[in-house]
Amino acid sequence: MARILVTGAAGFIGSHLVDRLLAEGCEVVGVDAFTRYYPRERKLRNLSSAAESGRFRLVEGDLLELDLGLLLRGVEAVAHLAGEPGVRSSWGAGFEVYLRRNVLCTERLLEAVWRAGTPRFVLASSSSVYGPDGGRPVAEDHPLRPASPYGLSKLSAEELVRLYARERGVRGTVLRYFTVYGPRQRPEMALSRFIAAAHAGRPVEVFGDGGQVRDMTYVSDAVEATVAALERGAGGAYNVGGGVRVSVRGMLEAVREVTGRPVEAVYGEAAAGDVRSTWADSRRAERELGYRPRVGLLEGVAAQAEWAAREALAATA
Ligand code: NAD
Ligand code: UGA
Repeated sequence: MARILVTGAAGFIGSHLVDRLLAEGCEVVGVDAFTRYYPRERKLRNLSSAAESGRFRLVEGDLLELDLGLLLRGVEAVAHLAGEPGVRSSWGAGFEVYLRRNVLCTERLLEAVWRAGTPRFVLASSSSVYGPDGGRPVAEDHPLRPASPYGLSKLSAEELVRLYARERGVRGTVLRYFTVYGPRQRPEMALSRFIAAAHAGRPVEVFGDGGQVRDMTYVSDAVEATVAALERGAGGAYNVGGGVRVSVRGMLEAVREVTGRPVEAVYGEAAAGDVRSTWADSRRAERELGYRPRVGLLEGVAAQAEWAAREALAATA
């Protein structure tokens, strides 16, 4: 039975990955610092089913402080999902936190992985490393020119993975997730906000004209790609896109359709660092990881809306 270390285990994607690995029969060590990016109670609920498994152990702590050598004992693969995730809050004073949580943590973990001789390492990176050229599908060899400090911090983390692969022989695989959605999505992300507004009957704020387009990836698809990379990632970078491109106005339309509620949009300033369009060429992941996104937009938004309704009840219970 494989033992896997998942960092950021209580977060949106991390908690789904934990559930999926437990279902597969793995032993999972989850690490999370429960940062205040969004409430601790929400993250604890993400782990409610994992907590019942005898094969799951949660270590609460910061990757910058924990004894990583101890954590890595007997571990066959590391999925490094911990990090500071938002694009828009990474400017100005916010950047220091991004450096610590995305760059320093990754370096400390890679050093420990090298020392422990852990066989495989997977980094959660982001479409944000590509920057603004999203008018056509981008493959992994597309120039990397982040449009936000967040994107730059993820690119730095990627460069560390490449450095440790070249110089220290760590087998590290980079996954560039494209806007992930579904149950447990972080509360500040567009669909989370739009669904919450629909349920509460209040307007949503659209940043800019709402014509910006995202390649949307349903969370179980992102998780499947991650499991494949943990099992057979041979190094290098892979795009993980959902194959569904939709504008922000289109997201709103999907929320209206799924919830059956009218949602008014208030158009505000465009957000700094927000790229106009993302578009993944995920053929490398398809060829080498057997990745094939399966969940369509309306199906995915419906699952997220159902979860959000249950979550709102749990939060007030
Ligand atoms: P999330 O905020 O829900 O999860 C990240 C978790 O990491 C949090 O629970 C947080 O407490 C934990 N964490 C942060 N710093 C830590 C530290 N120093 N030590 C221990 N734990 C720490 O975010 P998410 O949306 O699940 O994203 C997971 C990863 O995927 C992030 O690295 C993010 O940058 C990346 N990513 C996410 C998306 C997306 O659309 N959600 C897209 C591309 C990349
Ligand atoms: C998402 C994640 O938040 C990042 O962690 C991730 O790295 C990135 O995807 C990625 O693909 O790499 P983003 O695409 O900005 O970032 O996702 P959302 O927060 O869901 O925003 C989507 C669009 O909706 C953006 O253009 C944003 O400006 C817009 N938006 C968001 C609004 O118009 N209103 C809101 O209230 C929230």
